[in-house]
Amino acid sequence: MIELKNVSKWYGEVQVLNNCTTTIQKGEVVVVAGPSGSGKSTLIKTINALEPFQKGEIWVDGVAVHDKNTNLPKLRSRVGMVFQHFELFPHLSVTENLTIAQVKVLGRNATDAKAHGLKYLERVGLMAHKDKFPGQLSGGQQQRVAIARALSMDPIVMLFDEPTSALDPEMVGEVLDVMVGLANEGMTMMCVTHEMGFARKVGSRVIFMDVGGKILEDCTTQEFFGNPDARQPRTKDFLHKILQH
Ligand SMILES: Nc1ncnc2c1ncn2[C@@H]1O[C@H](COP(=O)(O)OP(=O)(O)O)[C@@H](O)[C@H]1O
Ligand SMILES: [Mg+2]
Repeated sequence: MIELKNVSKWYGEVQVLNNCTTTIQKGEVVVVAGPSGSGKSTLIKTINALEPFQKGEIWVDGVAVHDKNTNLPKLRSRVGMVFQHFELFPHLSVTENLTIAQVKVLGRNATDAKAHGLKYLERVGLMAHKDKFPGQLSGGQQQRVAIARALSMDPIVMLFDEPTSALDPEMVGEVLDVMVGLANEGMTMMCVTHEMGFARKVGSRVIFMDVGGKILEDCTTQEFFGNPDARQPRTKDFLHKILQH
């Protein structure tokens, strides 16, 4: 579904992705972990061409992201993305948030788009809030709307960038529940997260990145958590720090 081949990126002189190579199969849930500044956000944003890169190749469902002739808006419409800070349109109702891209980008008619969007709103358990504005919802509810909005586009893959990091602790669970449901249904997902419980529960693989934008580990979840002695010293140190409490 997704293939990265020797992807490198620089901001000026500073290298932020260093020869990153990995493959994500259909239905896999890949967790991307690593310290702050290691390039996790940059890596997943290269996949839907939100971040350009200077070297290497990325293929998404056979589409060459690195090819300047590729229709990037079309590619992006097929790749769902959920950010830390929801990024809903504050001046639009929940229903309008769910339908606007379906109409403007996919060309669906308003009635179909609404029915489709509300189906996903129901799925994330928020039908009662369809006419509210984002500011009237809690952070956890807003993030569930953001997930429903991405799903309304019928994406072939969902990218998550720390979707629970900005939430109050009691709202993390409701968002993770939605993500676990998606994973169990076979959605292909790439999730930047520090939620190691989620990683263990539904992750197929873990990619661990280190500062400088290098993929230090790319292994199954079982290997990652079950065989710490086989991990790089940097990975062990990170795991020790986040798991000790
Ligand atoms: N627009 C930018 N200009 C310059 N450097 C940037 C920019 N965006 C990110 N960086 C740098 O790229 C590196 C990787 O950032 P990022 O992908 O956000 O890391 P992470 O998500 O792992 O915290 C960091 O060193 C960050 O400072
Ligand atoms: Mg980040």
